[in-house]
Amino acid sequence: MIIIIGNQKGGCGKSTLVLLLANYLTLIKKCKVTVLDTDYQQSVSQKFQKAKILENVEPYEVLALELETYPDMKEVFAANPTDIALVDLPGKLDDDGLLPVFQSANLVICPFAYDEFSFESTILFSVVLRKINPEVSIVYVPNRVKANVKYETQVDVDLQLSKFGSVTKALPDRIDFQRTNTFQIPLSVYPVVLPVFDKIFKDHIKK
Ligand SMILES: Nc1ncnc2c1ncn2[C@@H]1O[C@H](COP(=O)(O)OP(=O)(O)OP(=O)(O)O)[C@@H](O)[C@H]1O
Ligand SMILES: [Mg+2]
Repeated sequence: MIIIIGNQKGGCGKSTLVLLLANYLTLIKKCKVTVLDTDYQQSVSQKFQKAKILENVEPYEVLALELETYPDMKEVFAANPTDIALVDLPGKLDDDGLLPVFQSANLVICPFAYDEFSFESTILFSVVLRKINPEVSIVYVPNRVKANVKYETQVDVDLQLSKFGSVTKALPDRIDFQRTNTFQIPLSVYPVVLPVFDKIFKDHIKK
């Protein structure tokens, strides 16, 4: 199964969500996971290398992936339906090499924030994605939601996005999210991510 985590918007939490989900699927659901890092900054694979240097045992593999090699890699994952490939997309979607990535996805997870600019990018991303892969399931995850802020646009944004896919419960903006790495989820983050991931797992991953 191929799951991509993407949005046209930079910094909305794609790589953070990839790490959280990879840890969740491996540690809790005992799935075999490989993270494919297509991000030019390769932030996930860098964190992975750092964790390796610290001699932690990595629960899953992280590959820094050249997009040209993706068509071959995707065969590997298509051949092993129980394996899960989590693809971290870059913030800028201007590379034609991303086309086969979009085409091959079984599920797209799209983190976004409730602000005007993020919304436009999220809609643009969704329209392009739907054109390339009309059948794919899309799950939107509101991220970095501040506890004391009332988002005027929230109801409208949820309504617009629900035309493309489903919208999960929101993930809060909290400093402990920034301590997520390739071998652990900070314990304090579990109560907020578990309900979101359990729902995604139940609806889209567990077959
Ligand atoms: N829920 C959250 N609470 C607090 N900080 C967060 C949260 N989610 C992400 N962050 C922080 O926001 C920053 C951007 O997140 P991240 O790198 O995951 O985004 P990205 O979408 O992968 O960015 P890029 O487009 O550059 O690849 C990071 O410093 C991350 O730790
Ligand atoms: Mg990233």
